[in-house]
Amino acid sequence: MPNLNLPFLGHGCDYNPDQWRAYPEILNEDIRLMKLANCNLMSVGIFAWTALEPEEGRYDFDWLENVLNRLHEAGISAFLATPSGARPAWMSHRYPEVLRVRADGLRNFHGERHNHCFTSPVYRGFVNRMNTALAERFGKHPAVVGWHISNEFSGECHCELCQAAFRDFLKAEYGTLEALNAAWWTGFWSKPYTDWAQLHSPSPVGENSLHGLNLAWHRFCTRQTTDFIRKEAEPLRRLTPHLPVTTNLMELFGQLNYFELADALDFTSYDSYPLWGNPDQEWVAAGAAFNYDLMRSLKQRPFALMESTPSQVSWKNVCKLKKPGVHFLSSMQALAHGADTVQYFQWRKGRGGCEKFHGAVVGHAGHEHTRTFRDVQSVGDALLKLVDLRGAMPGAEVALICDTENRWALEDCQGPRRDLKYIDTVLEHYRALSRRGVNIDIIDETRDFSGYKLVAAPMLYMLRPGVAERLTEYVKNGGTLVCTAMTGRVDRNDLCFLGGFPGPLRQTLGIWIEEVDALYDDETNDVEMGGQSYSCATVCDLIHAETAQVLGAYASDFYAGEPCVTRNDFGGGAAYYIATRPDANCLDAFYKEVFDRAGVRPLIDDLPVGVQVTSRGDALFVMNFTGAPVSVTLPAGTDMLTGERVGGETELGINGVKIIKF
Ligand code: GLA
Ligand code: ZN
Repeated sequence: MPNLNLPFLGHGCDYNPDQWRAYPEILNEDIRLMKLANCNLMSVGIFAWTALEPEEGRYDFDWLENVLNRLHEAGISAFLATPSGARPAWMSHRYPEVLRVRADGLRNFHGERHNHCFTSPVYRGFVNRMNTALAERFGKHPAVVGWHISNEFSGECHCELCQAAFRDFLKAEYGTLEALNAAWWTGFWSKPYTDWAQLHSPSPVGENSLHGLNLAWHRFCTRQTTDFIRKEAEPLRRLTPHLPVTTNLMELFGQLNYFELADALDFTSYDSYPLWGNPDQEWVAAGAAFNYDLMRSLKQRPFALMESTPSQVSWKNVCKLKKPGVHFLSSMQALAHGADTVQYFQWRKGRGGCEKFHGAVVGHAGHEHTRTFRDVQSVGDALLKLVDLRGAMPGAEVALICDTENRWALEDCQGPRRDLKYIDTVLEHYRALSRRGVNIDIIDETRDFSGYKLVAAPMLYMLRPGVAERLTEYVKNGGTLVCTAMTGRVDRNDLCFLGGFPGPLRQTLGIWIEEVDALYDDETNDVEMGGQSYSCATVCDLIHAETAQVLGAYASDFYAGEPCVTRNDFGGGAAYYIATRPDANCLDAFYKEVFDRAGVRPLIDDLPVGVQVTSRGDALFVMNFTGAPVSVTLPAGTDMLTGERVGGETELGINGVKIIKF
């Protein structure tokens, strides 16, 4: 597998010269401005299908050749996009099977983007011919350094072709209808299937509360999308085996299981649009960091920051500008977590279209004399100085499990509450871990745990085959495991474990969960722990400590005084249980104790809240997201941006960042 292996740290944008072909003077000016902005990498041709194939079978690639030549002459490289994220009207018109069918059975009209059937042999055929032609023509072009497949894969199709593929998938998964009926507990409400032909995707006007079916459908959609990606990549890999393949992934995207989809990619790339400007900047920064850590962890490789905005987006209700310093800080944050590129959507604001006011390096004024342009220049300048970071990885002793299949199951779960706040809980644990100043890998429950000193697994409701056994081995061998409320309820088909929750983790955690109480949105309970009182919300597991020691107890309601936080020393390690969703202070205190016992060393001790730290290779990133100047004690080293020696008590300005080489 080729890797994202650039001779530089990439800096650039989505570039859509296809939309500006009637403006030759603008295309000339683009190259001058790109050099001025210190850009060296453009993603070209995303959504350019109609420009590339104006009518069926007639390809027009000359304009693209021109663009690639000019980029190359200017020393700028390109990720070449395949255009399959949106298709020409002539195609939908002549071949309606390429149009997606909704869950209620209605076929979409032509329009929008990201809306094709993933199964359609006609669509797959068009994509294959297009990609073959692109690879033949441009595979050896000196500007091209990788493939950007399609754009932000998402969604599902319920057409007859997809139904047939789904039934084949189910046959392969379950073998017999008896096995399927047993796994899905179809005796409930008289649902057993007696013929494969009766199986249909979940639908608001049909079956939608059979959790086994819903899970299988999610799995199928991931499988089918991944298969589509593999087929897209097949001609590219055959004709250009030297070029790595990626597609751009999205923030906390729950529809597709990225841990599976990433297998089809050579490297991951990510579109990052945090809510900078939100008053709780620490929370926003933690969310951004979480996603970067996920992108890196998916393949345990550096990733590309494929898109970010140099100023503001256009698709939120309120689109805040990035305040001075935020663009630089947020770009360095991506680098800190393993990005080898900083790229933007978009190079130049379009004259029309719904994204015409979306931030871009070049605005409608058309020149370089803007705050945004200067911000971009300074990021490009820094990337030149930081080139040695290329390919370096942050080593992590701590892993946080965020499992997509678990998320599907929890989000489908009825009771004890409708919204169990899985993702909120995962992010709260992420923030607490990152406040301790360590590198963090984001993994799912299928990954190897053995390399970590600490594995946090909030709300691991679904334990797929072998997971509990592997977690148990991990703890036995000296690992530290943290579990929380709603753990260990169901197997991979959403069938409950019999014999007491947390099912196969009962011995490891040393607890039995007898009941679970649900709290209203505005309701809290309290946790007493280590002489302090904290608040907690959402759900409260009522547990019996069997072999575990009690570290904290509930403070109110009829279960006041009963265990809430426990530790079970098990084999050479320890397994903790937090039976509820506690507040940030509680998690801070909890993890402080857990880190000390597990021997996890922070990169910097006593980090002020809102300052993030990570390391990458021999570089330490210290980033101030507090929104105010802050004083931090830095280790001795060289500031990679200024070349100065630094160390000791140092003031970081608002949105300040230090990148220190040890
Ligand atoms: C996404 C898409 C881009 C563009 C941007 C706007 O990430 O991939 O095409 O729509 O959002 O923020
Ligand atoms: Zn379909």
